[in-house]
Amino acid sequence: MLRHVISPQDLSVKELEDLINLAKDMYSHPSDYSEKCKGKKIATLFYEPSTRTRLSFEAAMLNLGGSVLGFSSADSSSAAKGESVADTIRVISSYADICAMRHPKEGAPQVAAMHSSIPVINAGDGGHNHPTQTLTDLLTISQLKGRLNNLTIGCCGDLKFGRTVHSLITAMSRYTGVRFILISPDELKIPNYLRTEVLDAKGIEYEEVSKLEDVMPKLDILYMTRVQRERFFNEEDYIRLKDSFILDKEKMALGRPDMLVMHPLPRVNEISTEVDEDPRAVYFKQAEFGVYIRMALIYTLLKEAGKIEG
Ligand code: CP
Repeated sequence: MLRHVISPQDLSVKELEDLINLAKDMYSHPSDYSEKCKGKKIATLFYEPSTRTRLSFEAAMLNLGGSVLGFSSADSSSAAKGESVADTIRVISSYADICAMRHPKEGAPQVAAMHSSIPVINAGDGGHNHPTQTLTDLLTISQLKGRLNNLTIGCCGDLKFGRTVHSLITAMSRYTGVRFILISPDELKIPNYLRTEVLDAKGIEYEEVSKLEDVMPKLDILYMTRVQRERFFNEEDYIRLKDSFILDKEKMALGRPDMLVMHPLPRVNEISTEVDEDPRAVYFKQAEFGVYIRMALIYTLLKEAGKIEG
């Protein structure tokens, strides 16, 4: 069966659990999976810059014994000549077995999925969704906290444009006992649809605050985000808001000893480098886990598509 992953909601809670368990096994026993996708190819179609997502998809496929092809900017593809996403994916469907697409326009991977005969994975679309970052985040939380329920999660920074936070809130709202503290300047609060269609609709407890220090002692997880310069309409607003929150040693001292500090990366100024040595800072480990959850996703989608044996 041909399946695409465009939003975290495309996967049931049971499927998320299966992917997380498979990723943990791949992490512990990588050699057991080193030929599972031999002869298969992933196309990474990145119309927007990326370090972690593109390279971890490629590392994931190489770890599974497969191969990679693709482009890393719209300028180096025929999009620069005006080719549509629909035409591009029709062609790529005959070159590769699975595709990961990042695009600045919200909904572009969904359009690709409608014209594709291979599985399409959304690798980030505008300010909308980033489901494989969320899978990475869930694996990190499950592995390092030992649970996905009964957690107080503080999301801090650019909650308006930060697609990783939108996907994380949507995904974590499906677990019991999860509560959010949303820390942002007024201008960078979460979009209203998340408040009405996710948090209020599901009766999730949340508060919106503008000061990080006040809420640090309450958090099991502090999820920091960068202010998304590329999504601002004017530079003055970005400059005014970019350093709204800077996590440093003093603020870390207010947090619980077992709190985790996560960040999808790249970081700009929002976490001082002095925090990196704190054992609660797990963002580099989080980036490493991204390879294993993408291995699990590629393997599962290719198996479901009947392209590899189980
Ligand atoms: N976390 C994340 O999406 O990083 P990149 O933009 O480097 O892929």
